[in-house]
Amino acid sequence: MADIFEKCRNYKDAKIAMRMGIYGYFQPIESAQGPEVMLGGKKYIMAGSNNYLGLANDPEMKKAALEAVEKYGTGVAGSRLLNGNTKLADNLEAKLAKFKRKQAGLLFATGYQMNLGVVSCLIKKGDYAIVDKLDHASILDGIKMSEGEMVRFKHNDMADLERVLAKIPEDAGKLIIVDGVFSMEGDICPLPDIVKIGKKYGARIMVDDAHATGIIGKTGRGTCEHFGLENGEVDLIVGTCSKTFATVGGFVVGDEDIIHYMRHNARSQIFSASMPPSCIASITKALELIENDTSRRDNLFRLTAKLKKGLEELGYDLGTSTTPILPVHVGSNENCFKMWRALHEMGIFANPVISPAVPPGRALMRLTLMATHTDEHVQKIIDAFAQAGRSIGIIK
Ligand SMILES: Cc1ncc(COP(=O)(O)O)c(C=O)c1O
Repeated sequence: MADIFEKCRNYKDAKIAMRMGIYGYFQPIESAQGPEVMLGGKKYIMAGSNNYLGLANDPEMKKAALEAVEKYGTGVAGSRLLNGNTKLADNLEAKLAKFKRKQAGLLFATGYQMNLGVVSCLIKKGDYAIVDKLDHASILDGIKMSEGEMVRFKHNDMADLERVLAKIPEDAGKLIIVDGVFSMEGDICPLPDIVKIGKKYGARIMVDDAHATGIIGKTGRGTCEHFGLENGEVDLIVGTCSKTFATVGGFVVGDEDIIHYMRHNARSQIFSASMPPSCIASITKALELIENDTSRRDNLFRLTAKLKKGLEELGYDLGTSTTPILPVHVGSNENCFKMWRALHEMGIFANPVISPAVPPGRALMRLTLMATHTDEHVQKIIDAFAQAGRSIGIIK
């Protein structure tokens, strides 16, 4: 008889990496998520966080969370539908919708749950979800939970998008789903072309602005603002509160009727508890800080440009990113693990991304700065990459 646990006992990859001292995951951080973090009593420069604007340890954000704990307690102990709703959550939904130039919004406990709920409640039998090959896993998982079909097109390849759309029955419901900013490569989707092609084939469009919200667009409103497409060209914008908003949660904004339907049909929202009021209060504060002060974003882009220039001058391939996500391509998975270890020894925290998460031979160290880093931090990261890359033979 097959033992359901056999695969667990046979799973060796991570244990081998741990024994070799090249395991760069689940690193236990002992401090706040700032430009420097503590690990095992040692200080590291944090070059691998999604806390882009540095708000996770911001005094105003913490004050907002503490005040919410005082007023509402630590949690709401239930789903919003039945017993876990608060005025704070209703207000934040309205604010997020206004910020994204949409009629209404809906919160979820996490960004992952948001994509599961939004996608699975929209895509029904006979419908098609059309996705970029590099879309986030939560989008793909949402489609797997749905009753419809998934078709994928090559990353940011508009000819391939047309090719797949042309094959779908004309009268089928269609939803094109793309990441605004792709989480590993840091490139931006060609939204104007997607809108044009989507219209031609009668497809609705959904953009995941997890890494774009608060970052791209003149005032940080995301991919639609970046391209000047804020007049209903995109049907749904979704995002997470775990990156720039520096806490946890997910959201979707769109037309009133669509959001009303999701509020009553998205299972990951209905059958799961609300995020705690402290998170909602911090997100509300983050939105206020983003809307009223561009200096954090300006500093983030200035520091990122300096880091990018430094690494490119060393000879590294940084792909086509134009955002604060910098993928430093290092070749094989082995190079990636060696690079992680060398950087770790030099006090740099960065994220190793290996195949199958990226195509074979395209392993990368994913670098992201925060607005609160200093020029000195950036120089130290460049110096560490120079030393590590030369010793491993990735650069000359
Ligand atoms: C594009 C994208 N969508 C959704 C998510 C899920 O968000 P969360 O981690 O907040 O659950 C992520 C997180 O990595 C993401 O990058």
